[in-house]
Amino acid sequence: MSAYPKRLLSIKDLNRTQANRIIEGALRAKSRPHAAPVLNDSQPPRIIALVILEPSTRTRMNFEIAAHRIGARPVLFSADGQTSLVKGESEHETLENILAMRPDLLVVRHSGDARVTQVIESTQIPTINAGDGKNEHPTQALLDAATIFEKKGRVEGEKIVFIGDVEHSRVARSGRLLFEMLGAQVAVCAPPYLLPNSKDWAHVQKFSSMGEALDWSSVCMGLRVQKERHRNKNGAELDLSAYRKDFRIEKRNLKNLKPDALIMHPGPFVADEDLSEEVLLDPRCVIHQQVTNGVYIRMLLLSEMLEGAQ
Ligand code: CP
Repeated sequence: MSAYPKRLLSIKDLNRTQANRIIEGALRAKSRPHAAPVLNDSQPPRIIALVILEPSTRTRMNFEIAAHRIGARPVLFSADGQTSLVKGESEHETLENILAMRPDLLVVRHSGDARVTQVIESTQIPTINAGDGKNEHPTQALLDAATIFEKKGRVEGEKIVFIGDVEHSRVARSGRLLFEMLGAQVAVCAPPYLLPNSKDWAHVQKFSSMGEALDWSSVCMGLRVQKERHRNKNGAELDLSAYRKDFRIEKRNLKNLKPDALIMHPGPFVADEDLSEEVLLDPRCVIHQQVTNGVYIRMLLLSEMLEGAQ
């Protein structure tokens, strides 16, 4: 396997050496800005097609900023009601058209649509998955691992618990794959209807009590209740008042957490549901640092994948 993959659709596209190289390279660029990746002078500039078919704030802006910082040109397609999607064009045909314009690299977020996935898997253009439905979000896992490494000096041996809607979470799926590859222990804490039930998660420790989960962990990672992926999209199947009482991360729960533990969340969080705003003031909370680290992870990946494709 080469230094960096040509496509990053899943954490399974990386091995441990590559993952460590990406994490360490991104953190080196953060601490020494003069060492940050910049593309070799290229005429014409490299074009990154950023195709955002599901809502995004952090990932979209992280990639845009990262592209500008390395000297590439991001071109954004956002499903905002101003595109031919509103005329009835399908998402997969939209993507085919964007690829026909021959960008140098594709970054794509989508709902996990099978036809869109098929187009992504068949293109020869370097591609990064920026979140596909409830499947994977590999760059989120890399920035999360980078944040743990930055704060704890290691990922190996850490005890990382995902709290909340694990079943519908691409963040948890990619996170579990990467954290386990790097030698961490992963656990989950959720009500029974939000616990992952596929065999990939069979070996993972499951907590039903947040107190016990926080007591066990060295890193706790909150997750949003992803009602848009629930069968009933209004979340009507979910008793949110019961959920809030037992699974919303609040100041009162944090007494169970070790003094040197980390409080993380991929964002967006919903203050009423999964994490109260007072938690942001806890010195163990690194939620905004995760977002900062995302820029460096994406700068490194974009530059290496573009240079590798030359
Ligand atoms: N963490 C994350 O993917 O956030 P956005 O949905 O805002 O991009």
